[in-house]
Amino acid sequence: MHNGIDDLLGIGIPAIVLGLTAIILMVQRELGPFGKLSAGGKWLLTGAFGMGILAFALKVSVAVAVTRMPERLIGAAAPPPLEAPSALAEKVWAYDGAARQPEKYVWQALPLTAPEPPGNTSTPEKVALGKRLFDEPALSADGTVSCASCHDLGGKGGADGQRTARGIAGQIGGRNTPTVWNAAFQSVLFWDGRAASLEEQAQGPILNPQEMGMPSPAAAADRLRHIPAYREAFARAFGAGQAITMERIAAAIATYERTLITPDTPYDRFVRGDQQALTAQQLRGMARFEALGCVTCHQGPNFSDASLLGGRVPRRIFPALPSTFETRFDLSPNRHADGLERGAWRIPSLRNVALTGPYFHNGSVEKLSDAVRIMASAQLGASVDGATRPDGALHWSATGRVLSQVERRNVSDRDVADIVAFLESLSSERLVARAYAMK
Ligand code: HEC
Ligand code: HEC
Repeated sequence: MHNGIDDLLGIGIPAIVLGLTAIILMVQRELGPFGKLSAGGKWLLTGAFGMGILAFALKVSVAVAVTRMPERLIGAAAPPPLEAPSALAEKVWAYDGAARQPEKYVWQALPLTAPEPPGNTSTPEKVALGKRLFDEPALSADGTVSCASCHDLGGKGGADGQRTARGIAGQIGGRNTPTVWNAAFQSVLFWDGRAASLEEQAQGPILNPQEMGMPSPAAAADRLRHIPAYREAFARAFGAGQAITMERIAAAIATYERTLITPDTPYDRFVRGDQQALTAQQLRGMARFEALGCVTCHQGPNFSDASLLGGRVPRRIFPALPSTFETRFDLSPNRHADGLERGAWRIPSLRNVALTGPYFHNGSVEKLSDAVRIMASAQLGASVDGATRPDGALHWSATGRVLSQVERRNVSDRDVADIVAFLESLSSERLVARAYAMK
């Protein structure tokens, strides 16, 4: 260890010994005989010179010790670094993370089974009956229309490919037919979310005068009661002696619909671990879909916030922001008596959306790319005309005296193509194959 004492001992002592030896020799051998001094005089002179040497050696040692001392004094007195490097790095990382990604979106695959209500558990007999009822035209007033007439599970991805639905006697309805595939994962059904379960929903079209047009629930049950095969099938599904009722018709159809799910998509394979399942373009589209904020509404495994799987807000205003698309596609014809300017619509799932055009509640949009542009513009305020617009919409709050500028993000044609490619990865490979076979 290096300190002042070491300096004194290491440098001072040898110097003093050397100096004193030199003085003794000099005085005794040279100066003494030269000045004819007595023995006492020689030692007096030696002592006088010796004091000088001692004083000098002491000064040198003190100087050396002091020149070394400041380093240690400063070192000891200086405050410790404000933060250990690791703690600092952690802070920077946390800050960085918070600024750039407050909450990272987690992609989820579709479960392999749909949730079922406690009051209507599934059995193979109920599902088989439900399938038969789904295809049954006898449930319509003129015997021409079944659920499957509008919800084509073969070529049309569970929809009908029409702008709006066609019911009995060639009647044209007011709304587009959504797919029944994965409806089992939705918390509310219909474009406006007015049905709370598949059981409740299934009774609607049978009694809807524009769709299947049965006059009453009893009339529908009566039709089936006259067909012996149904009496047997209902007995197998619900127990011998149980009457055929509208509730049981709907319950059986609902259990069948819970089997109409599509976890077999490239997207699901990707999320489950097959990194080759998506193309480079689809991956770019997936990133854009998240970055633009589509996941705000089309979130979770069923790509809908109106889902039984972690859905939060099932309905949103659409179109939320004015755009030229609004009049071009007649997107807000819904000026109800209650004064609603814009409709509040259930957020649809985007699974199989590439197979289920035309799009939106009124079926006014033919191309999926246009549907994406409309969403980006009317729901997210992005600029979609291919031009960058640095002048975002300005908003002055007179009460808060705050000026804010909404940045108009630009969605290029390439972005749109990428997002469409990603949406195509949400199509069931089975359904795509069926759609091809039907062409
Ligand atoms: C005439 C065509 C037609 C027939 C027949 C028909 N539907 Fe529909 N279906 C539609 C239309 C149109 C909608 C949307 C109506 C709305 O939102 O107001 C719809 C909605 C649905 C939905 C809701 C899907 C969702 O995501 O919200 C389900 C489920 C469904 N139908 C099942 C059935 C069943 C089961 C039957 C037979 C009992 C049936 N449909 C008969 C046209 C039809
Ligand atoms: C603020 C909520 C919200 C956001 C954000 C949003 N959507 Fe939608 N989306 C909806 C609603 C609500 C509908 C149904 C509109 C209707 O009833 O016509 C819809 C419908 C769609 C449809 C048509 C589905 C069909 O079957 O007809 C597509 C495609 C779609 N959205 C894609 C996207 C894409 C891509 C984005 C991001 C660019 C996006 N959405 C962002 C709420 C949203």
